[in-house]
Amino acid sequence: MSIAKLTLEGKEIELPTYRGTEEELGIDIGQLRGQTGAITVDPGFGNSGSCNSEITFINGEQGILRYRGYPIEELAENTTFPEVSYLLIYGELPSKEQLQSFREKLTYHSMIHEDMKKFFEGYPPTAHPMAILSSMVSSLSTYYPEMAEEDGDLNVLRLLAKVKTIAAYAYKKSIGQPFIYPRNDLSYCANFLHMMFAVPTEPYDVPKVLEDALNVLLILHADHEQNCSTSTVRMVCSSQADIFASISAGICALSGPLHGGANQKVLEMLEMIQQDGGDYKKYVNLAKDKNSDFRLMGFGHRVYKNFDPRATILRKTADEVLNNLGQTDPMLDIAKHLAEVALSDEYFVEKKLYPNVDFYSGILYRAMGIPTDMFTVMFALGRLPGWLAHWKELRDDPHSRIYRPRQIYTGATQREIVPIEKR
Ligand code: SDX
Repeated sequence: MSIAKLTLEGKEIELPTYRGTEEELGIDIGQLRGQTGAITVDPGFGNSGSCNSEITFINGEQGILRYRGYPIEELAENTTFPEVSYLLIYGELPSKEQLQSFREKLTYHSMIHEDMKKFFEGYPPTAHPMAILSSMVSSLSTYYPEMAEEDGDLNVLRLLAKVKTIAAYAYKKSIGQPFIYPRNDLSYCANFLHMMFAVPTEPYDVPKVLEDALNVLLILHADHEQNCSTSTVRMVCSSQADIFASISAGICALSGPLHGGANQKVLEMLEMIQQDGGDYKKYVNLAKDKNSDFRLMGFGHRVYKNFDPRATILRKTADEVLNNLGQTDPMLDIAKHLAEVALSDEYFVEKKLYPNVDFYSGILYRAMGIPTDMFTVMFALGRLPGWLAHWKELRDDPHSRIYRPRQIYTGATQREIVPIEKR
């Protein structure tokens, strides 16, 4: 392998490098501080790798996204969300028998303890469902204290099975309707939509077009290597806290408007543009104005400096689902016009700002009847297998260490305390 040489204050040191299976080059700085006393500083970690991982590969320049080597376009077209969850967590696509057994376990564990339903009574009706989701997931550890090592994967299954139930209950709570129990005869996606939209007073058949659209949405959100929320899950896992604490922390990180919370902000932005007469050029200019803190939500990405392949798929799926449902949505037209104007504007071209996964997903959730404040919960449902896969990868790594970055101190140097009488 090639050697990186660093000359620092007259001293030259050599740093080993290595390449991943996709030829990405990494400089191993594990001995840097020991050899030079210096550390690297990289706010936002745009140039720093925290780990090696076998789960997801992204090439931001070429718009490539693969889960365990499979292109996202093929997975979205040919598999189901449980299959992709199995792939991410265990490393291979399941056989028919493995998938059947996996599905049965997800069905078996989809209920939450009856006592946990009482937790919902304490939340105000206006509680944001992401706040409910993170606290309910953390509370699962009170019912399932850390399992013995050999059962560690049981909690992976429990979370994958129960989080969709908690999410649907949070929605029902927000509209004052009774909770609908999961059903053993429905697929993962149909079960969730049934728990969301069924009422005790009449039967509800989940439309296939919505079940299929949800499958695609969840697959597209399932993992994205070391994004903010996944890195948070790994950070908490590195201290050997329980899995529920890790996933709850991931949910909290995802809720931020710069991350998973963006899908809700995109819809609110599109509605604002619509109410403002659809003057999207005005908002493109606002996004370019350094004196304005307005950003075009759903645009830009730390890694994709070309198109986000998920946005490309979602734009097509949104058209198909709306046509299939015989619906039109002015928000989709505004989104398309906004994208056209932005993508021909030199500010966005020069800064390589393209629509990301959050730009179109909200249009689809709306078409499915899912309210705006549930959009980020939907992102969490999709990202859950990715979080679980990374949690498992770190937990199973015999060389893993607690995440503890360094810093450069820029505060006050040593000084004497002045007695309060003289302050
Ligand atoms: C997700 O990491 C992941 O993989 C995330 C994700 C996943 O699957 O987990 O892909 C999901 O979080 C997608 C991103 C959703 N967030 C948004 O859509 C919010 C809007 N986008 C931005 O805030 C921003 O683009 C980020 C947060 C996505 C990326 O931030 P970076 O990489 O830190 O980039 P930056 O903020 O430093 O911006 C670089 C420049 C700046 O201009 P200068 O200061 O260099 O002059 O681009 C500008 C920014 O002002 N810019 C934007 C912009 N995004 C960046 N200007 C206007 N509108 C925007 N949306």
